[in-house]
This record gives sequence, structure tokens and C-alpha cells, in this order.
Amino acid sequence: MTRILVTGGTGTLGSLVVPRLRTADVEVRVLSRGPHASGDGVEHVVGDWGTGEGLAEAVRGADVVVHLAGDERHNASVASALVRAIRDAGETPHLVNVSVVGAELVPVRSALDRRALGYMADKAAAERVLEGAGLPWTNLRATQFHELVLGAARTLARLPVLPAPTGWKAQPIAADEVAARVAELALGAPRGRVPDVAGPEVHTFRDLLRAYLRAAGSRRPTVPVRVPGAASRAYAAGANLAPDRAVGRQTWAVFLAERVRTAG
Ligand SMILES: NC(=O)c1ccc[n+]([C@@H]2O[C@H](COP(=O)([O-])OP(=O)(O)OC[C@H]3O[C@@H](n4cnc5c(N)ncnc54)[C@H](OP(=O)(O)O)[C@@H]3O)[C@@H](O)[C@H]2O)c1
Repeated sequence: MTRILVTGGTGTLGSLVVPRLRTADVEVRVLSRGPHASGDGVEHVVGDWGTGEGLAEAVRGADVVVHLAGDERHNASVASALVRAIRDAGETPHLVNVSVVGAELVPVRSALDRRALGYMADKAAAERVLEGAGLPWTNLRATQFHELVLGAARTLARLPVLPAPTGWKAQPIAADEVAARVAELALGAPRGRVPDVAGPEVHTFRDLLRAYLRAAGSRRPTVPVRVPGAASRAYAAGANLAPDRAVGRQTWAVFLAERVRTAG
């Protein structure tokens, strides 16, 4: 039976991909720091990319690796650790990676660029590692998830005034819609770089925040803030958008109506 390892299978996207894979006739293994008990037809391997713990066990016998583990800063080094672990184990799985729209278009020319948007260049570097590993691969790029924007809005809404970077836009998509595509790709043959998936609408970051505040019943104001630097300029020019790939169906407004309760 096909064995699929999902790195980061407990994250926002991973926890939506895993149940979809379970409905197919495959064995599913999840790697994350945990602790999480195995069960429900999913084997859980506790491991950490930082220390290397659990990686060898996780990749052993995997026919497909859906790589969803990551954080804000270490995506390229995590990708290298994954490739090393696969080579050391002598495996040749189909690598399915999820990256971000416009990854290579947001430059890092200063410490400020790195702090503000270094995630994008790090994801581009991770793509290069995975695509150059000599393994069969598929790479899907998605725009920001509604869930990520909601998390950012909730964090900013703790402030008396919410800063909104001038000119920044987003085209958020429901993570569940991305998960459906990831599961489909994981169950299929290697495809190389596949068309991006993006949300149904483009909004300014400020409008996304305002819609969140309305949904939450908050009257807090937003204020435009200019973020200097090359990365911010690229972002404001729409590097993270894919208007011609607006395949997502759930809008930000519908997502908010489902997820956010008003304070009143
Ligand atoms: N969020 C977005 O808007 C967005 C947009 C486009 C693409 N993507 C990409 O989609 C993928 C999934 O994103 P997500 O938002 O679902 O991520 P997430 O919710 O932050 O989940 C990250 C996962 O990685 C695991 N992880 C983190 N650090 C680890 C470590 N040191 N060792 C082992 N496991 C570790 C976490 O599990 P534990 O904490 O249990 O270890 C968790 O399962 C990522 O590659 C991301 O770059 C995300």
C-alpha cells in the first residue's frame, strides 16, 4: 500500500490534508514535534527539524512526502534536512511541496527586508533545494490562507490602533481549498511546478483588517504605515498575488462570517 508522510501534518494546512488522504487507500504518517498519539489510521512520528530527531524514522518506506512543515525563517534549512534524511534512508519518494505565490519576487536587500518579508525568499530557496534534489517532485504555490490573515488581524487588534502597511494587498484563500488540491496532487503522479492557487478576491491589507474589525464588532481604527525597503515595494506591486489564478471560492467575508463572533 502507498505510504504518505505528511511533514507538518498537525498544522493549519496539514490537519486538513491528512483527513483527505485517509479517505484514500493509503497509509498516512505524520511528522511533527508533537507529542501526538498515533490513531485514527494515522501513524504519528515525533521529530524536530532543528535537532534531526525522528527524521530517519519518518522518511523510512515513504512513497510520497507531502512537505508542509515550516516556520517563518527556516524553510530552506528544513528542506535540506528533509532531502538529507531521504538520501540517507535510500528512499526515492515523490516530493510534494507547498510554497507561496511570488516567492522569488520579493527580494531581501536589507535587514529590514528580511525582518518584514524574508519568509518569501526563504520559501524560494526551499523550492530550489527540493526541486534540485534529483527526486520526482510537485510544487504548488498558494496565496496567503484566510487562517493566516485572521491570525494576523487578531494579533494586531490587541493594539489600540491597527497598523496597515501602505499598498500591501492580499488574495487570501481558504486553507481547506488548498488542502483539497494538495491531497489530489499527493495521490497523483509527479507534475513539477503546477499552476498556482489563489483566493477569489484581491483586497488591500487595510480593507482585510477593517472587515475583520467589523465582523468582530470592534470600532478600533486602522492607520496606514509605510514599510520601507525593496521587499515591501515588491509586495505593494502585487508580487504575492495571482489574479489570473483566482480559483478559490470562499471569500474573506464568508470566512469571517463563519469564524468570527462579534463582541456584542
Ligand atoms: N499559511 C499561509 O498563508 C501559507 C500560504 C502559502 C503557503 N504556505 C505554506 O504551506 C505550508 C503549511 O503552512 P501552515 O500555515 O499550515 O503551517 P503551520 O500551521 O505553521 O504548521 C507548521 C507545521 O510544521 C510543524 N513544525 C514546525 N516546526 C517544526 C519543527 N522544528 N520540527 C518538526 N515540525 C515542525 C508544526 O507542528 P508542531 O508545532 O507540532 O511541531 C506544524 O505541523 C508551509 O510550507 C507554508 O509555507 C502557507
